[in-house]
Amino acid sequence: MTARRFLVTGGAGYVGSHCVLALRDRGDEVTVLDDLTSGHAAALPPGVRLVEAQVEDAATLDAVLADGSFHGVFHFAALSQVGESMAEPLRYFARNTGAAITLIEACRRHGIGGLVLSSTAAVYGEAAAQPIAEDTRPNPSSPYGESKRAVEAMLHWAWTAHRLPYAALRYFNAAGADPGGRAGEDHRPETHLIPLAIDAALGRRPPLRLFGTDWPTEDGTCIRDYVHVTDLAAAHLIAFDRLAGGPVTWNLGTGHGHSVRSVLAEVERAAGRPVPVELAPRRPGDPARLVAASARAQAAGWRPRHAALAEIVSTALDWRRSHPGGYGQC
Ligand SMILES: NC(=O)c1ccc[n+]([C@@H]2O[C@H](COP(=O)([O-])OP(=O)(O)OC[C@H]3O[C@@H](n4cnc5c(N)ncnc54)[C@H](O)[C@@H]3O)[C@@H](O)[C@H]2O)c1
Repeated sequence: MTARRFLVTGGAGYVGSHCVLALRDRGDEVTVLDDLTSGHAAALPPGVRLVEAQVEDAATLDAVLADGSFHGVFHFAALSQVGESMAEPLRYFARNTGAAITLIEACRRHGIGGLVLSSTAAVYGEAAAQPIAEDTRPNPSSPYGESKRAVEAMLHWAWTAHRLPYAALRYFNAAGADPGGRAGEDHRPETHLIPLAIDAALGRRPPLRLFGTDWPTEDGTCIRDYVHVTDLAAAHLIAFDRLAGGPVTWNLGTGHGHSVRSVLAEVERAAGRPVPVELAPRRPGDPARLVAASARAQAAGWRPRHAALAEIVSTALDWRRSHPGGYGQC
């Protein structure tokens, strides 16, 4: 396939930087637009142009897209912490939903061939039936999930009125790191279980807070579907290439849930050290179990190739060992 040109918003962030690697590995040309509020310029591989700007900045978007040579846009840029969104809902709607209006308008003005959105399992809220199928009615239980659901709705109507093709990819728990060690996870503050458990095991942070051991699950801890970030990146490329057939909405997960305790056991095995734990009460709004049915992505040929929990944890551990200060001190 001949090389193509893509704009990647939020490409300096965790999932976005792995997608940038996948595009570059395929020989595509990439421009990243990122304001670096939570991303890192050092996460970008050589040969990628970084435009340091907000997605909300319509003039910069126009300047970037003006030459008309972009085939598509991957839109990762967003705020993504459920708890923070409960405290600051309007900021989430401004940054996630408002910024997307600016981006969708710019894509329309410049005749972009398609947009792939990072959506989230949080659009489902506390879905009763597990695994969650893609035709489950969204029912977000947080401003974060609602802000993404609103972007999906805008994309649907922009498709209906203007024929801007899109893919809404609802990720479950992104985890792991590039198996080649070129990128990894460096959120500040970190809120995700696997990097927190690894750093607790390595003695780099206080004991891990385990929120609830009385959930209605086999071992009393919450169950989540961890999907390797490299598999997520691969799904974006497949989704973009399917857009000629019309919009798609896919769940991206492995279909297998792992309890918090089983993740901690895997981290301990891989690190060869215990994970110090401090028991804490349940967090309001945390569903007991979130597992994806990814039938549509699988039907399109996507297979999670790094799905084993051992590989997810070992790639994350390798990256954190080789980057003790994250991207700040490589
Ligand atoms: N990490 C997960 O487990 C997960 C799960 C479901 C969905 N998602 C979604 O995937 C996307 C990426 O998540 P991530 O974990 O890589 O987050 P991240 O914070 O690492 O990356 C987000 C990137 O976007 C940039 N950014 C944010 N708002 C911006 C704006 N308005 N203008 C320009 N740049 C902006 C940040 O600087 C950062 O580089 C998000 O949309 C998130 O909602 C992530």
